[in-house]
Amino acid sequence: MQYTKCWLDWKEIPKEQKRKCYYRPVLLACGPVAATAGEEYCISMGEMLGREISLLEMADGCEPAVFLEVDGAMQTGARNEALAEQTFAIREEGDSIRITGRSEEALLQGVFAFTRMVSLAQLDEKLPFQCIPSMPLRMMDHWDDMDGSIERGYSGRSFFYDNYEILYNERTEMYVRLMASIGVNAIVINNVNVHERETYLITDAYLAQVKKYADLFARYGIRLFMCVNFAAPMQLGNIPVSDPLDPDVIAWWQDAVKHVYEVIPEFGGFLVKADSEGRPGPITYGRTQADGANMLARALAPYGGILIWRCFVYNCRQDWRDYKTDRARAAYDHFIELDGEFDDNVILQIKNGPMDFQVREPVSPLFGGLKRTNMMIELQIAQEYTGQQIDLCYLIPMWKEILSFDTYACGEGTPVEQVVSGRSYAQVNCGMAAVINTGDDENWTGNDLAGANLYGFGRLAMDPSLTAEEIASEWCRLNLSQSDEVAKVVVPMLMGSWATYENYSSPLGIGWMVSPPTHYGPDVDGFEYDRWGTYHRSDLHGIGVDRTDAGTGYVNQYNEPWRSIYGKMDTCPEELLLFFHHVPYTYVLKTGKTLIQHIYDTHFEGVEEVEEMQRQWASLEGKIPDRAFRCVSERFERQLANAIEWRDRINTYFYRKCGIGDEKGRKIY
Ligand code: GCU
Repeated sequence: MQYTKCWLDWKEIPKEQKRKCYYRPVLLACGPVAATAGEEYCISMGEMLGREISLLEMADGCEPAVFLEVDGAMQTGARNEALAEQTFAIREEGDSIRITGRSEEALLQGVFAFTRMVSLAQLDEKLPFQCIPSMPLRMMDHWDDMDGSIERGYSGRSFFYDNYEILYNERTEMYVRLMASIGVNAIVINNVNVHERETYLITDAYLAQVKKYADLFARYGIRLFMCVNFAAPMQLGNIPVSDPLDPDVIAWWQDAVKHVYEVIPEFGGFLVKADSEGRPGPITYGRTQADGANMLARALAPYGGILIWRCFVYNCRQDWRDYKTDRARAAYDHFIELDGEFDDNVILQIKNGPMDFQVREPVSPLFGGLKRTNMMIELQIAQEYTGQQIDLCYLIPMWKEILSFDTYACGEGTPVEQVVSGRSYAQVNCGMAAVINTGDDENWTGNDLAGANLYGFGRLAMDPSLTAEEIASEWCRLNLSQSDEVAKVVVPMLMGSWATYENYSSPLGIGWMVSPPTHYGPDVDGFEYDRWGTYHRSDLHGIGVDRTDAGTGYVNQYNEPWRSIYGKMDTCPEELLLFFHHVPYTYVLKTGKTLIQHIYDTHFEGVEEVEEMQRQWASLEGKIPDRAFRCVSERFERQLANAIEWRDRINTYFYRKCGIGDEKGRKIY
């Protein structure tokens, strides 16, 4: 089995950076996670120092040293106890260094931060350093199925399952180390679409093996979660319904949960996709989403478990002729009335946008709407609609934009980041979750450069004030090369890649022009006459969906001033213009270009930008590991072919619709 170590592939550091204390780690804490912290120190620093390191026993007389300690009374300044527990500090004390965690888990995070700083030669600049993580929960959602496939997986097969068996090997351990090292503290091990066999994951058919994962995760301070099938009482319990208010159903779940905790006392809880895309849920019984969520939450509560309920609820059997129903409205319409009705251990998991992880969407209005409900944002690291890890699309700039979007929920200055980190409403059950992009490919993420999204998600959830450039540069130096020359090529390439992808794919926020079976490559009308509620409504005059008052009224789900800003064509941010309005081809944008000319220009530019990235990448030959060089080169070839296909299909489609030629006379078919 071959796999890379990604950002944990430490290189020996220059001699002048090797401080004496580095060779002398002293572990002043006990417990399983503290032991992991000690081990991780020895592995990483051993590799960076070029010789084996082991923990020293004694505190006295061994200075200079690096002390690894837990101080339960440490003053942190954190806004609540849960975050205080996750706080760590690193400081110099004479020639020694002290890494102090408020808890064992925090100490482990301190060690990872320290080793990263040593590797990046940042210690002088960063110490003294204190970190209070921003997001209480930093969660990875796996869409792995037990047959070994991964829904929307673009990096090989699952390393958790094969042929309905649970796998456990060295790779599992490497995976957990990678996750812990970027601050992940919760992992959901199975797909939100819980199929027949996966329904048994919470039973003795699999629990003993799941426990092995849970134990491994626990040593790294990570809690294990599972997705459950809302209809499990019917499938497993022979109960005729799964009505959340039915006493037999309630009792069935209580027993099932009790047993899970008997086997796995540190179990985190459940994630549930209900009433969505064919999954069972409370609507069948005339019950609300709160009835469904609270029933499960109450079964979990005695054990400290959390219930995460997805807001991805919409009608996926829409008639394309129906201009009134608007999928974008669905999540808000289903959940806003229920604000305040969810139990304390329920978290609503809300996709970043109202549709489904498109290259450009407005931010979900639920973040500005719900005020008495725990919330978590759901992002997608897996590039389902953003190039599937063939095309380069560095997503951190998009996520930063989303997190900094001002919801105006508590007046001006209530960004999404504040809402989901729990600062707006003093919540502790909240944070960031993301659909992960890993598989059993050697490099974990298909395209090596897609590793930057995986790494960046964790870094951003710990500290959203990091810039997208900082994260790109860290990732590049830890994964490809420490040289400035390489970073000068790779960082700008990553930074520009989202805009490039957007340039050659669907224009100005409209989305969905992808091929329906795969979600890769262009098919402008692929979804247009289908049931998914994903339309562009192009005709001979213009493109776009009217979501103003005159249209579907979706704009009214936003707080002011957004409602007004989005509501008018001339104030609507142009990157979202076609999401909110049906716009004539001849409409003049702020650049002075007409809409149709903008479409032509961006699509020609997108292809040119891919060609430029390809040239830039070629200049790295011999300067980065050969395997990564070849892997990404091959991906760029496929990306270029894809971009050309997008350019020509989109330009041709709209030229044929409107009959207006390209001002520059370029080739359109
Ligand atoms: C998308 C995706 C599905 C997934 C769903 C979800 O629609 O294509 O594969 O199941 O999102 O988030 O539940």
